[in-house]
Amino acid sequence: MIHIFLNIIKKNYFFTIFKKIIKRFEKNTSAEAKQWAILNTSQTVEEFCSSIDSLLYDKIKVDIKLIEEEALNKLSKLKVSLGGGGNYILLYFLILKFKPLNIVETGVAAGWSSLFILRALKKNGKGYLFSSDFPYFRLKNPEQYIGYLAQNEINKHSWFLDIRGDDLALQEIVNRLKNSEIDIFHYDSDKSYSGRSKSLNILSSKINSKTIIIFDDIQNNLHFRDYVYEHKKNFHVLEFQGKYVGIVGCELL
Ligand SMILES: C[S@@+](CC[C@H](N)C(=O)[O-])C[C@H]1O[C@@H](n2cnc3c(N)ncnc32)[C@H](O)[C@@H]1O
Repeated sequence: MIHIFLNIIKKNYFFTIFKKIIKRFEKNTSAEAKQWAILNTSQTVEEFCSSIDSLLYDKIKVDIKLIEEEALNKLSKLKVSLGGGGNYILLYFLILKFKPLNIVETGVAAGWSSLFILRALKKNGKGYLFSSDFPYFRLKNPEQYIGYLAQNEINKHSWFLDIRGDDLALQEIVNRLKNSEIDIFHYDSDKSYSGRSKSLNILSSKINSKTIIIFDDIQNNLHFRDYVYEHKKNFHVLEFQGKYVGIVGCELL
């Protein structure tokens, strides 16, 4: 509790924390969203990757296992729990398959997704990662843990991390992208409906019809359903460990 209080009174965090609290009062549509996700689930993540390139998917299973073991070993040395990772298998596969130049992710936490993204970029020999996060304010000095798993990656110079929260960080990422556009966008931060739409709005000038957009935990609310219907997007819903991932923009969809 003391850490929550100390983090809240830090000037830069107050507004983001305040907004997070307000968002808790948004309409709860999780039951309907889960029902929609189940009805629209076409494949598991594994089936989806295999259907695009089964040879590649089989090949990367060994990499994934090794990176997972390395990460778990590193995390076991920490005395705090930083939560599980996002959909890093899907990310790793898509990056090796499509060799994107610019990847944007929201939600870093311990850095599972960042680690797998950087490893895939390293294998490709090109590409940049732009990450947005906000510290877990229940922890003491939470900043030190953000991206912990990816902090020593050899290609960390290709990684820009902004921990001021999506509203500010994504605007900064738009500025840094200059004339380039986003090839892959992975959303795994503020799970509210308004947080998801606001982030997409901020990035809208950098997203094109080919941008692969991945939303984690679409069972939380109806944002993904409304987004794909409103923009008439082809989409896939994939099941992963009892949760649902929404994906649009993949040229092989
Ligand atoms: C589920 S975790 C991300 C897991 C990460 N993708 C991984 O694979 O390890 C969600 C992260 O989003 C962050 N977050 C929550 N609200 C946020 C916001 N408004 N802006 C940026 N990050 C936020 C949380 O603090 C947490 O670090």
